Amino acid sequence: MCGIVGAVQTHGNVVPAVLAGLKTLEYRGYDSAGLAVMTPHGIQVRRKSGKLSALEAELAQNGVPPSSQALAHTRWATHGAPTDRNAHPHCDDRGEVVVVHNGIIENYAELHGMLAAQGHAFSSETDTEVLAHLIAHFHRNGDDLHSATRKAMALAHGAYAVVVISAREPGTMVAARLESPVVIGVGEHGRYVASGIPALLNLTRDFLVLENGESARLTPTGHEIYDARGQRVERAPFRCEWTPEQAEKGGYAHFMLKEIEEQPDVLARTAFDRLRDPEGDVAFEDEFGLDDAALRGFRRLRFMAMGTSFHAALLGQMLLAELARLPGETLNASEFLYSARLPEEDSLTVIVSQSGETADSLRAMREVQARGGRTLGICNVRGSTLAREARHLVLTHCGPEVGVASTKAFFGQVAALYMLAVRVGRARGTLSREQGQARLLDLRKLRPMLDPLFESDAKQAVEAAADLLVPVRSCLYLGRGLQLPVALEGALKLKEISYIHAEGYPAGEMKHGPIALIDPSFPVVAIATPGRSYDKMISNIQEVKARQGRVIAVAARGDRKVAALADAVLPVPEVAELLAPLANVIPLQQLAYTVALRLGRDIDQPRNLAKSVTVE
Ligand code: G6P
Repeated sequence: MCGIVGAVQTHGNVVPAVLAGLKTLEYRGYDSAGLAVMTPHGIQVRRKSGKLSALEAELAQNGVPPSSQALAHTRWATHGAPTDRNAHPHCDDRGEVVVVHNGIIENYAELHGMLAAQGHAFSSETDTEVLAHLIAHFHRNGDDLHSATRKAMALAHGAYAVVVISAREPGTMVAARLESPVVIGVGEHGRYVASGIPALLNLTRDFLVLENGESARLTPTGHEIYDARGQRVERAPFRCEWTPEQAEKGGYAHFMLKEIEEQPDVLARTAFDRLRDPEGDVAFEDEFGLDDAALRGFRRLRFMAMGTSFHAALLGQMLLAELARLPGETLNASEFLYSARLPEEDSLTVIVSQSGETADSLRAMREVQARGGRTLGICNVRGSTLAREARHLVLTHCGPEVGVASTKAFFGQVAALYMLAVRVGRARGTLSREQGQARLLDLRKLRPMLDPLFESDAKQAVEAAADLLVPVRSCLYLGRGLQLPVALEGALKLKEISYIHAEGYPAGEMKHGPIALIDPSFPVVAIATPGRSYDKMISNIQEVKARQGRVIAVAARGDRKVAALADAVLPVPEVAELLAPLANVIPLQQLAYTVALRLGRDIDQPRNLAKSVTVE
């Protein structure tokens, strides 16, 4: 959480590009923001509580001079309330050393006490300010900025990405990383640093990723990377295929809406190049690294993830059981540490994470690896920690996801897990070539079948369903089998962005508790599409109606039975049963979006949330 952007160039004013980059990171935290620029007379800092727009308004009033060196930050508060004073960047008491930080310094109270005893005066309640003082302490005593930063970070415990500049050493920028991500951009006229690639796409397409424990010294014409022991590391930059336009709204009112509508393309990007139709199989790239023999060796699967990715993981477990006949379990990654230590030899653990930076998911992955287990990452960000550290990898090619409420990333994850199920099924012989071909054909046929979900009559249906949810405080989402994770995801979407309480439940459990809540002000969203669970879902809908409950049903277009029972219908195309979650989730995303829009909520940046949760 928190977003960092820094730049140092040979010439020109880099401030507008740094602020534009920061805007793309606002999803990481948005309770305050700040900017520091190097001037011939020292470093000038502006900080403001609230969103980046508040900082921009402050800069319009009280601007900074143009500069070829700048550092900016957007914050998700851990220590200290989101006030102007606690916003980053932080300085030492002489204003010479300026620091931005993403993460937590766990021993900050101890360091604070030590520095206060030496006469340092603090002006904020943050853990970060301690770092500025600590670095300044070494810097004043003769260490250059890189060496001072390394000495300070050796004393700090916790997780961090820090970037530091100093009025004593203009033209240098130092970055250090432990857990929280840091990417370095390599440009013709400068070097750049940020928490994520999208922030720098308007400056360069060539990147390096700092590994855990590494630090870097950046100047306008060069970069040096050092490992934890202080040894130089040589690393070639990689070129990023993402375009700046992909990280922009492109005419949509919100990133979330743009990302919902991109989903048919995500299917094409994530899947189609990998399908080997004649063999009825899937070919992942080299980083997958599991051949038929390895896939035949596994006896059990474990899936772990958080948030929306957890719902995709649940579907992954079901799809692998269905197509590859492999048993599995799905855990919240945050719960794994408390689970029994079981033998890992025969298991493959699949970690699903859009960002590849979620602290709980990374912790769980490392724990599995430490216990001798094999890990496969399903991830959207090349170069992320998960993508680099998981033993095996499948990238979802969704493009950057910016809206805090995840939509297209879920879609890409489920598509990838479906392909994984086909691959493993083919390797294990639970799917014949013909059966594999049929599964791939289902996937190819899905894309055009999704088009009606974005047409005006589908949007009208969503508006009518939203009428039922806008006035309520609480509601229930029901599904069975493959539609249960979809119900959980639909409920999560609604609560995240509309702040209406929504509970996802297995429909069979309704009679064991939630039914007591049903009345006209407690609507039920029921997923009743064709397949194994259809008849039982019809019964559940009848039970709700019999108690004066209101029902919004996700149902196949033209399903008269459901239409006769439900108060509102979200029509979906009738697709292959195993792929129905991909079709059914779309109107539920649209429903959450529409309700939140009508309630005037901040859709792309809902309160208290952050897109990338890098603290446990
Ligand atoms: C946060 C985001 C969610 C996301 C979850 C897991 O809570 O707001 O949208 O699903 O983190 O993130 P990951 O990047 O690991 O998929």
